Parts: sequence; structure tokens; C-alpha cells
Amino acid sequence: MKNVTIITGLAVLLAGWLTLSALRPETSLPTAVVMTDSVKHDPATGLAVDERLTLVVAQCTACHSSKLILQNRFTRDGWKEKIRWMQRTQKLWDLGETEPVVLDYLVKYYGPEQKAFDGRRKPMPAVQWYKL
Ligand code: HEC
Repeated sequence: MKNVTIITGLAVLLAGWLTLSALRPETSLPTAVVMTDSVKHDPATGLAVDERLTLVVAQCTACHSSKLILQNRFTRDGWKEKIRWMQRTQKLWDLGETEPVVLDYLVKYYGPEQKAFDGRRKPMPAVQWYKL
């Protein structure tokens, strides 16, 4: 009658486990992270979507990945200084009348106070990672 002993033993274990899991308070599975910002991110570049996106993509991702933008936060002067630096040393062209538009965009989404999109500071479920 060994089998009966084993089966009874298993049944007792199962019953105990079921009782314990029933008594256990609500298990703390991570709840869905709710994104509070309504900004959409372009799947191809990860950049914030607005009416200036196409212009910024054309001007700013021709030589390098958008990641260089995504991982930086500068003031308007800071971004302007980066543009001047790229113009001096990296053959970036004159942005002409699009420069203020590009700067507005950069400061709005990648200004110093825009910490929300910075992957280094918070896990960002809405960010679409892409290959460099
Ligand atoms: C003509 C080519 C070219 C274009 C166009 C260009 N960049 Fe760059 N940029 C570079 C090069 C080259 C680097 C240095 C890359 C490196 O260090 O790996 C760079 C670096 C950067 C960096 C990093 C600077 C740092 O201090 O680490 C940022 C930010 C940046 N670019 C933003 C922009 C933005 C914004 C635009 C659009 C206005 C733009 N880039 C357009 C060539 C370009």
C-alpha cells in the first residue's frame, strides 16, 4: 500500500499549498506602468513625434544615429553650441532658417528639464529601441 501513502502525502501537500496561496495576500506582480506623457515616439528614430520631426530627422540624423540626441539634454544655447561645434569640426551645413525650428524642437523635448525621456534615469517602456 505504498502508493496510497505517496498519493495521500501528495494530496496533503497540494491542499497545504492551495490553502497557503489562498491565504497569501495579493501577490505583488508588477502592475502595468502607465506612461503619463502623451508624446509619441517615432519607431524608426525614437525621436518625439511632432510636425517638425521630418525636418529634424533630415537635418540631424544624416550623419549619426538619433541616439546622440536622445541621450543628451541641453539648453537652447547648449544645443546651438553643439550645432556650431558640428559646423566647425564635423562639416555640418548651415541650417539657415530651419535652425530656430530645429532648436525649438530640441529644447522642447531634449531640454534640461525634460528628464522623462532619458533612458538613463528611468526605464522607458514607450521607447522603441533600434539598431545603431
Ligand atoms: C554633417 C554631419 C552631421 C550632421 C548633419 C549632424 N551631426 Fe551631430 N555630430 C556629427 C559628428 C561627426 C559627431 C561626433 C560623433 C561622435 O562623437 O561619435 C556629432 C555629434 C553630435 C552630438 C554629440 C555631441 C557631444 O558632445 O557628445 C550631438 C548631441 C549631435 N551631434 C546632435 C546633432 C543635431 C541636433 C543635429 C541636427 C541639427 C546633428 N547632430 C547633425 C555630425 C553631424
